[in-house]
Amino acid sequence: MNAGILGLGRYLPEKIVTNADLEKVMDTSDEWIRTRTGIEQRRIANDDIDTSDMAYEAATAALKNADVSAEEIDLILVATVTPDRPFPSMACVIQERLGAKKAAAMDVSAACAGFMYAMITAQQFIQTGVYKNVLIVGVEKLSKITNWDDRNTAVLFGDGAGAAVVGPVSEGRGILSFELGADGSGGKHLLQDGEYITMNGREVFKFAVRQMGESSLNVLDKAGLKKEDVDLLVPHQANIRIMEASRERLGLPVEKMAKTVHKYGNTSAASIPIALVEEMEAGKIKEDDLIVMVGFGGGLTWGAIALRWGK
Ligand code: ACO
Repeated sequence: MNAGILGLGRYLPEKIVTNADLEKVMDTSDEWIRTRTGIEQRRIANDDIDTSDMAYEAATAALKNADVSAEEIDLILVATVTPDRPFPSMACVIQERLGAKKAAAMDVSAACAGFMYAMITAQQFIQTGVYKNVLIVGVEKLSKITNWDDRNTAVLFGDGAGAAVVGPVSEGRGILSFELGADGSGGKHLLQDGEYITMNGREVFKFAVRQMGESSLNVLDKAGLKKEDVDLLVPHQANIRIMEASRERLGLPVEKMAKTVHKYGNTSAASIPIALVEEMEAGKIKEDDLIVMVGFGGGLTWGAIALRWGK
């Protein structure tokens, strides 16, 4: 049984924080942030909206888009590194709120590659016929673990959620190939140390450029496809320079790369599904389009998927 995307949803907090707003509270400039990262603004959740609230909103939208009811969900996977609390898991919290009574539920921790890990976990259960509908959510409230006194990291992140219902699709469609990987020896370059995120930006940058390009090419190779076959690249939205390097590695024109980093910043596990929903809503994805999704993150972790769109 092939596994594919049956529906998508997203949630973004209303509050917009622009680079000009950050200039007022730290030693930075709109010019520095835009030229180094491509970020112009980000969404930040108010204190009364936690990770599970954003996950619930995105999940509700995805179920509606998929025309699948909560009772039909067999498994819920939530990719996040910023849960409301260590347990109960975010998956259990939204299972109750959605009324997904028969669903098993757990969280996945793979930082910005979390959505890729969740999607491939879902695929395994669907492919084997064990489960039919799996709800996956990528969600972060990174503002909770951002040190607003550290300009090296504070300008990069945003809050948000993206969700997908993954289920059986017809032959030739859905997930064609994937690659997941990890290198724990690089964990020191990007981590939550105490309360806050700390990062060696240059090391992460080098790793990301190399890994995003290689993983994208590897999934094409595994599926027996070529760079020219790709209709849409959906890279993790961390930094426009990293994204551009991946696009160039695949030899794709700008219009074939999903881009939300300028308006939402880096939303970690939420960035790939959010970018995918926006492409879908803009009518830019057609039946049988070949989509390559690729992410990297703290761990270090990475993941890429080649997917043929449609049910
Ligand atoms: N405003 C102004 N100046 C700044 C800022 C800022 N916000 N941040 C850093 N600088 C300064 C630095 O202090 C440094 O000054 P110095 O030369 O006097 O020491 C100077 O700018 C240049 O710093 P670099 O580190 O060389 O800048 P670089 O071009 O590497 O860009 C960046 C930094 C944007 C962080 C880049 O390295 C990057 O994008 N790395 C990848 C980060 C990433 O993707 N992280 C997300 C991982 S996802 C996850 O798991 C959450």
